[in-house]
This record gives sequence, C-alpha cells and structure tokens, in this order.
Amino acid sequence: TGAITLDIGFVNTGSCTSKITFLDGEKGILRYRGYPIEQLAESSNFAEVSYLLYNGELPTAAQLEAFNKDIAASSKLPGGVEKIIDQFPGSAHPMGVLAAAISSLSGFYPEFLNPEATEEIKNKAITQMMGQVKVMMAQFYRKTMGKSPLASNAKLDYSSDFLNLMFDGEVDKDVADALDTLLILHADHEQNCSASTVRVVGSSHANVFASIAAGVTALWGQLHGGANQAVLEMLEEIRKDGGDYQKFIEKAKDKEDPFRLMGFGHRVYKNFDPRAKIIKKACDTILEKLDIQDPLLDIAKGLEEVALKDEYFVKRNLYPNVDFYSGIIYKALGIPTNMFTAMFVLGRLPGWLSQWKELREDGARISRPRQVYMGETERDYTPVIKR
Ligand code: CMC
Repeated sequence: TGAITLDIGFVNTGSCTSKITFLDGEKGILRYRGYPIEQLAESSNFAEVSYLLYNGELPTAAQLEAFNKDIAASSKLPGGVEKIIDQFPGSAHPMGVLAAAISSLSGFYPEFLNPEATEEIKNKAITQMMGQVKVMMAQFYRKTMGKSPLASNAKLDYSSDFLNLMFDGEVDKDVADALDTLLILHADHEQNCSASTVRVVGSSHANVFASIAAGVTALWGQLHGGANQAVLEMLEEIRKDGGDYQKFIEKAKDKEDPFRLMGFGHRVYKNFDPRAKIIKKACDTILEKLDIQDPLLDIAKGLEEVALKDEYFVKRNLYPNVDFYSGIIYKALGIPTNMFTAMFVLGRLPGWLSQWKELREDGARISRPRQVYMGETERDYTPVIKR
C-alpha cells in the first residue's frame, strides 16, 4: 500500500536478506559464506565450495567424501532425459537444451514436486543436479560431434569428470585445475538477474527443477551469462577485421551504435571485478602451460589497456568483468564457443540452488512487484465490424 517507488532494473531494491554471498562493489570484495573469493580460488575446489554455499560451512573430510560420492552416484540420466537431449538438432544452442533437460527432470523425480519436500530431498537436490547437469552438457556436446556418450568416472574430481565425459582420452590435470578455478569463481554472485529469477520462480513454490531451469534461461542473455560467448565472438570479429581495437572502442562509445564492449561493465562492481583479476592471471598461466599462443588474448589485453585509459570508460566506471577473459580459457580447454554460457551454468548451479534453499527455509513471501500504469484510461468496446 502507499505510493509506488519505481526502480526500473532494480538498481536499488533489496529483495531479500541472505547469508550466502557478500559483495562490495566499491571495494571489489566477493566472499562466499565469509570466505574471500581469492582464498577459495587459490586453495579450495569446486565440490567443496558448492558444499559450503549450500550448507553454510566448509565440509569435514568425511562430509566432502560423502558429497562427492552422492554427486558421482547421480552422474547419469534417466533414459527419457537422454532421449529428450538426443531429439534436439545438433545446431541447437546448448542453453536451450539445458533449460529443457533440467525442466524435464520434474517428470522423472515426482518426489521433488511436493512443496513440503522433506529435508532429505532438499539435501539431495544439489548432488543430484550437479551430477546430472554435467552429464547433460557432455551428452549434447558429444552428439554435436557425432559421438556416443561416455560414462562418468566416480574416482575423478568434479571438473576432471566433466572433461572425462566430454573428451576422449586422458584428462590433463592443468586443464582440470583451470576449469575448477573458473567454476569456483562463477559459483555464486548474490541477487543477479538469474539468481533473482530463481528466487522469483521459487517464491511461488514452483519445484526446484522449474526454478533452476528459469535461472538457466535468465543467464542465457548477452547482458548476463551470454556475455562470455559474445566476448569471444567480438574478439574474433576484431581479429578478422585486422585487429584494430581502437575502432571497436569508438563503436562502443557511439550512442547511435548499439554495439557495446562485451565483457565490460557491471551493475555492482565500480572499481574492478575481483573475479576478472583472478581470471586474467589464470588465463596467462593456462595458456603458457598448454603452450598456446592465442592472438585473441593479445587483442583482449590491448582492448583492456586502451579502454581503461579512455575517458568514456573511466567516467562510467567500466572495467573488464568475469566474462572478459573466461572465454579465452574455455577455448584453450577445447570447449566450443556456443557452450561457454552453459559452462557458466555448471559453475552457477550451486549458487542458484543455495539461493533457492535459503528462500524456502526463510519462508519467503511470493514475489509480486507493482507497476505504474501508463496505458489508456477507460474506453468502450467496439465490435470488430465497426473498427
Ligand atoms: N560498452 C559501452 N558502454 C557501456 C558498456 C559497455 N560494455 N556498459 C555500460 N556502458 C555505458 C552505458 O551505455 C551507459 O552510458 P550512459 O550513462 O552514457 O547512458 C553507462 O555505461 C551505464 O550503463 P548501464 O547499461 O546503465 O549499466 P547497467 O548497470 O544497467 O548494465 C551491464 C550493466 C553489465 C549489463 C552493462 O555494463 C553491459 O551491457 N555490459 C556488456 C555485457 C556484459 O559484459 N555483461 C556481463 C556482466 S558480468 C557477468 C554476468 O552478469 O554474467
């Protein structure tokens, strides 16, 4: 009740309280459950971070072992879901495939549909989905390559098993480590577009699969997770155009031109994105380890250097975000460009699930914003023949 305050794009609207992720955009601080992202990226692993986000505390050795075992036990799909994935044309975008396949899980696990789902089922949601989403992604990728699916290996850590499911042959430890770091950096980011979507959908007591599938579709867009694919396509375009990044900087500044420098800018980070700092370093390390000279990395670094000195970007506090260098790493790991945003899903899944669980545990009210109506005032209906 009372006057409605408009906040288009929710620039300054707090939608919930949360104990999961702390973010200070001015200082460039990101912490999961109090632990600095830098420490987690350096010393932890993705399974442990996922447990931490979902349960609030780092696991003991026994808890971590049980968590990994549960993920491994879930790293397979019901035959029906395999068929659904298989029905997509190979040209389909992996994000559409994932949204459909995740949503389809509701048909195979009806026990999750009860809004009063027991603690046991709530606790199972994370290990089951972490196991199954990795299998879905790999199955679709292999289909596009004309290859049959590979089996999960319970002995491998999360990132190694994902690579094992994707590619034939031995998993390279450096590649698996680089991937694990990327997944940690993507694991949660408080009330961004997709997490808020998960919360809005979950607030109606929609089931966990429906809520997470909604998060996937929100992430797909270029202004959000889709930026990682867009960055690589942009860098490729600059390379093909002769590598003149100044031209693209001018394009991004031109208000008449819809082009934006992809991977630049952030709603909350106004000095730097702490994830981008870590990723830039990881990018150098992995390319050096794999002995890859990617001209796109030079273009990216050049673009960054020029943009950081340019008044337009400085005035608007536009810095490289998490998506700016991540694509170059994914490319080095052998992941196709149109799968980059799906890689973001793999990383963000524990964050979305943690937000969903917290929402349900807090007994949140249904999300129901208001509007300011700007349309026609009352008018009388005219039959079609009179129009
Ligand atoms: N290139 C050129 N100009 C930009 C850019 C950019 N990448 N980003 C923002 N601006 C300008 C924008 O035109 C506006 O200028 P003015 O004040 O003169 O109108 C000003 O900066 C503020 O931009 P905004 O669109 O009002 O800011 P926002 O908080 O609504 O949007 C953003 C944030 C991330 C969507 C935006 O910066 C953007 O489109 N970036 C490119 C896409 C991208 O990299 N997205 C990934 C975000 S981080 C990870 C994730 O969410 O997945």
